[in-house]
Amino acid sequence: MYNSQNIPGGTENLSAITKSDDSRGQFGLYGGVYVPDALAPVIDDIAKAYARYKNDPEFQAELAYYLKNYVGRESPLFFAANLTKNLGGAKIYLKREDLNHLGAHKVNNTIGQCLLARRMGKTKIIAETGAGQHGVATAATAALLGMDCTVYMGALDVERQHLNVERMRMLGAKVVAVSTGGAGLKEAVDEALNAWVADPEIFYVIGSAVGPHPFPVMVRDFQSVIGNETRRQILEAEQRLPDYCIACVGGGSNSIGMFHPFFKDTDVKLIGVEPGGRGSGLGEHAAPLNFGNPDVLHGSFSYVLHDENGEVAPVHSISAGLDYPGVGPEHSFLKDRGRAEYVLASDAEALEAFQTLCRTEGIIPALESSHAIAYATKLAPTLGKDQIVVVCLSGRGDKDMAQVLELLKA
Ligand SMILES: Cc1ncc(COP(=O)(O)O)c(C=O)c1O
Repeated sequence: MYNSQNIPGGTENLSAITKSDDSRGQFGLYGGVYVPDALAPVIDDIAKAYARYKNDPEFQAELAYYLKNYVGRESPLFFAANLTKNLGGAKIYLKREDLNHLGAHKVNNTIGQCLLARRMGKTKIIAETGAGQHGVATAATAALLGMDCTVYMGALDVERQHLNVERMRMLGAKVVAVSTGGAGLKEAVDEALNAWVADPEIFYVIGSAVGPHPFPVMVRDFQSVIGNETRRQILEAEQRLPDYCIACVGGGSNSIGMFHPFFKDTDVKLIGVEPGGRGSGLGEHAAPLNFGNPDVLHGSFSYVLHDENGEVAPVHSISAGLDYPGVGPEHSFLKDRGRAEYVLASDAEALEAFQTLCRTEGIIPALESSHAIAYATKLAPTLGKDQIVVVCLSGRGDKDMAQVLELLKA
């Protein structure tokens, strides 16, 4: 149903288009709404509802209540003194999203979207999930707010993230394993979109800053709590802003949430870390900002990975939450504008960083977040001791233990 299509003439003048407009979800050429006719009015309703409640004090108070009392915010900004000392360079701070209820940043967004869905009178929720973290967060939020929840998950991910599948079921959600194509996150999104077209009464809680407008803007706004807290916390700890903010990029929600409050602070370098997987060959990584081209995928225009026939490419990453062939449109805009830089961390580097953080700081990071740690451990020694690097520790690694034990045996 969702065939990628190139926008005629759209890719030629990317750098000339420099404006972004939140109200239309347009980031230069990127973003927009590319959906079947059946979904257009449904998505328009969500955009209108979000525009209405975004600045509504009652809605914001309700959101703040749950973030504080259910999620446990604010999350600490932890000075990783041992890691800093071992690396011998810049000071490294970790934004501890792993300490949120359910163990990742995803719940910041599911609370926001489910509260909006409730205001819109919706009672049925669907979601896609890769690592299972967004699925678990959606299942828990649906249980909290008394909503019916179905989660679509690639069959491959059902296997490697078994614990999260059981958590979702325990929380009362139905989990649908999707076996088409690569049986990963892309196929889970395809299937969730198909279910939405079939029943527009449901609310699709998209798990990253991707999809048609208003999702990239809305998810960014809900996740900006990460960057807003970080900004305040680092000013308190160091009386100045950091030199670098680093975050892993799957669809791009923890990273855009970290980056957004720093956009105007042009001295703060923003670095997104894509999964470099096993190498630069087709199907060996999941890094559209490094190796892709602009195209439409899942309702918006952004960088996408293609195979030699121009079809959406197969992807690979050690990390189930990062192996997606597309990326949120605002990241494509930031890349072209040069405001953010997008680098790679390989599977092996992420696995190494996973163990490093366990042993130096007593923190088991998610494999997704380990990509950001991996890049930070390469960067910090090249910087002076007076420089500051903040890393978004997007989630905890308990869910990855079985997989890591297998990988370490191999
Ligand atoms: C812990 C964690 N970090 C990062 C990601 C990647 O998603 P995003 O790029 O939207 O932050 C995921 C996705 O499942 C995740 O579970």
